[in-house]
Amino acid sequence: MRRAKISVIGAGNVGATCAHWAAAKELGDIVLVDIPDKEGVAKGKALDLFCAAPMERFDANVTGTADYADTVDSDVVIVTAGIPRKPGMSRDDLIATNVKIVKSVSEQIAKSAPDAVMIVVSNPLDAMVYTAWKASGFPTHRIVGQAGCLDVARFRAFIAMELGCSVEDIQALLLGGHGDDMVPLPRYTSVHGIPVTQLLPNATIQACVDRAKKGGGEIVKLMGTSAYYAPASGAVQMAEAIIRDKKRILPCAAFCENEYGVGGYFVGVPCILGAGGMEKVIEIELDSDEQTLMDESISHVKELVDIVQKTFPELAGKVSV
Ligand code: APR
Repeated sequence: MRRAKISVIGAGNVGATCAHWAAAKELGDIVLVDIPDKEGVAKGKALDLFCAAPMERFDANVTGTADYADTVDSDVVIVTAGIPRKPGMSRDDLIATNVKIVKSVSEQIAKSAPDAVMIVVSNPLDAMVYTAWKASGFPTHRIVGQAGCLDVARFRAFIAMELGCSVEDIQALLLGGHGDDMVPLPRYTSVHGIPVTQLLPNATIQACVDRAKKGGGEIVKLMGTSAYYAPASGAVQMAEAIIRDKKRILPCAAFCENEYGVGGYFVGVPCILGAGGMEKVIEIELDSDEQTLMDESISHVKELVDIVQKTFPELAGKVSV
């Protein structure tokens, strides 16, 4: 049986950590790609990781390269290329630099791995997924953004800290863009089936919501650059669902036309991920407060996409859906 192939674009903190989690799960062969100036870094990290294989007992080739020809036949491409945040920056401050990078990466992937599913991690996420879609010309079901898995995991981690219980038992849901206006849904959060509202006071739940929203910023402030263990784990959770055709329901930035009244943008929603990529958006009932928050979040996503379209007019206009 042929092993799956995962290409990770960007061999920096997030990219190398994606390779690490993916190798540990034995998801398939891994190709770590960076720019020619950083080819040594990509090759060095790949070799270092492969030398852990005898001890960690994974059978996966890990290679580094600056040549997109090495991504041919990838099943999944994880895009982490781009600059991360520094203290005091918002994700939106990265847009001018990262749109150029993600555009160029996506154009190259469209040539070298035209049948892959692309998982975008670069920030500002919602604008970068849009950029990857337009620049690659991929159908919308083969482009997804990683944000919701991370944001939900942060929310679950903070709830578990408050309850002193296992993170495994917390189920949670979250919608909207990847920013301070993401929409956590305490009403859909449970602890081994028990609604969280029965276990924690509202003020504590709200504090966990706020900490999840600002969790990325909290980490940037502490270590001077943006997070990578959990963002990479989110991307690899998605890659696993696709490669193993698990049909998992995960919160992803997925293309929504009529769903949630979005009107043709990539926004964080629960969806089924399997071999076909993003196989179905799941619509859930929202009360009027939740819908208001969702509408605000969607309008922020539209503002970001507007900036991309104004900066790169060639990225405006419809391509395949
Ligand atoms: N092709 C391939 N790699 C590129 C390109 C390109 N065109 N442009 C930049 N890169 C590489 C850089 O050389 C660097 O090695 O992307 C890597 C980014 O790594 P880091 O600077 O360590 O940034 P990281 O923390 O990994 O974050 C990357 O993910 O979560 C998001 O907000 C984060 O946008 C940021 C991205």
